[in-house]
Amino acid sequence: MKKYLLLFVLLIITSGMFAQTPGKYNVIPMPAKLKRASGEFVFNQRTQLIISDDTEAMRNAIAPLTDRLRIVAGFIIPVVHEPNPATQSNTVVCKLNKKNTNNEGYELTVKKNSILVEAQTPQGIFYAMQTLRQLMPAEIDKSTLIEGIKWTVPCVEITDAPRFVYRGLHLDVSRHFFPIEFVKNYIDWLAYHKINTFHWHLTDDQGWRIEIKKYPKLTETGAWRCRTLKGAYKNNPCEREWDNTTYGGYYTQEEIKTVVEYAAKRFVTIVPEIEIPGHAVAALTAYPELSCSGGPFEVEGLWGVFEDIFCTRDEVFNFLEDVLVEVIALFPGKYIHIGGDEAPKVRWERCHACQTNMKELGLKDEHELQSYFVQRIEKFIESKGRSIIGWDEILEGGLAPNATVMSWRGEKGGIEAAKQKHSVIMTPNTYVYFDYYQVYKADRDKEPHSIGGELPIDKVYQFDPMPKELSIDEQKYILGGQANLWTEYMKTPEHVEYMAYPRVAALSECIWSNPERKNYDDFIQRLTNLVKHYDELGINYSKAFLRK
Ligand code: ACM
Ligand code: ZN
Repeated sequence: MKKYLLLFVLLIITSGMFAQTPGKYNVIPMPAKLKRASGEFVFNQRTQLIISDDTEAMRNAIAPLTDRLRIVAGFIIPVVHEPNPATQSNTVVCKLNKKNTNNEGYELTVKKNSILVEAQTPQGIFYAMQTLRQLMPAEIDKSTLIEGIKWTVPCVEITDAPRFVYRGLHLDVSRHFFPIEFVKNYIDWLAYHKINTFHWHLTDDQGWRIEIKKYPKLTETGAWRCRTLKGAYKNNPCEREWDNTTYGGYYTQEEIKTVVEYAAKRFVTIVPEIEIPGHAVAALTAYPELSCSGGPFEVEGLWGVFEDIFCTRDEVFNFLEDVLVEVIALFPGKYIHIGGDEAPKVRWERCHACQTNMKELGLKDEHELQSYFVQRIEKFIESKGRSIIGWDEILEGGLAPNATVMSWRGEKGGIEAAKQKHSVIMTPNTYVYFDYYQVYKADRDKEPHSIGGELPIDKVYQFDPMPKELSIDEQKYILGGQANLWTEYMKTPEHVEYMAYPRVAALSECIWSNPERKNYDDFIQRLTNLVKHYDELGINYSKAFLRK
């Protein structure tokens, strides 16, 4: 009898344990705390959603859940406003309070008969909704109605908050141009991974992509190139092959407004990038008088770094200020990215106006002239209540007083900037350049041609935005991290998706989760489930992570 009793007790204990099937808790990025519980909540036609604050932001926050349930299950979940909602049966209660001390954090308690979501801000509620989506059957992310699915969420208690305030994903739309609908999908998917910033690289040598009303030639001329390099880059110009069809495109201001609005609903801030003083050939093709030599130029169809950059004459600053006024009016976020990378100085060295400027300003070399250029633009941007971000080359010749540095040539620039008490965003090419191959060399023949490099997902997963070299005091300057997608070799949205996903999932865990919560094997387990959601969302992700 005793033996049976023991067996019975054992059975009870283990059934409790295994009811919490580990495979069900597949959240990426890994939450700060996750306590499993037995049982599940089931959504049905009668589920209600109760919100403590009836604001537009709160309605945007719950949309990822209510929209999905409407699309896939046909449930029109009533949203009820109660200032002090109590948890009732078959309800999802979303409450704004201070229980979670982080303004992007949230508490999520799933019980068999109710779900409670608490956060300081609607943004925290929004992230809880993304977590809920990942806890549900992958079909929640379908685009059509489906029958016969039980819309369950396993019982759980989650306390979550991001490690970094800046969590970014970048897209270069100059080297290749992507339709507005794709840009919106891109934003939707990055928000799904709790990334809060979209860095939109809008101008470069190969195309100017943002309508500027005062300078229509920027897009009439600067958005179009006559030819594009075909295939791999060849050092020998005679060996290069060209696609001679006219290529280009741009976003109208009206279109950009719709993207900004779309992003805001997903708690994503857009950082627009207008490149100065280099990567400016498209602008100079439209307005050659802004160069040192006077041109003429052609919008580039080749990849690389080009010698013709903006001149430092006053009229160039007038032009850039006019452009920035229109850019600032379109993008409400704090930051304007001014580029600053890869600006050869040969034209300035040979330009009478630039050399005169250097002498009059008492500058010792062209690096200091670039620093002057960036500082003058910073002053203008700050006069409009905004701040600048620049690539780490802006350290050369002296940093502008309040500039945030985006460290891309490894971590060195970021470390130096933090030591100089400047804010830093880490985006090192050693971990998060998603234009690099995502397989090791031996497997390259299976991959579409890329710019080079080697960043399989396990390497990306090792990314830690916080450099070991910084003191506790210096660490506070590291705002976070970002991955970049330069699109020289990505012609289509599908190819961008392939290069971005699933590496974005790894990135999200590196910039959201605490390092002690990271475990690569466990991440891959959870990723195996997340990609089922990607299948439903229609993301053309790479399956390289499944090969070992
Ligand atoms: C860069 O990759 N040139 C910032
Ligand atoms: Zn000049």
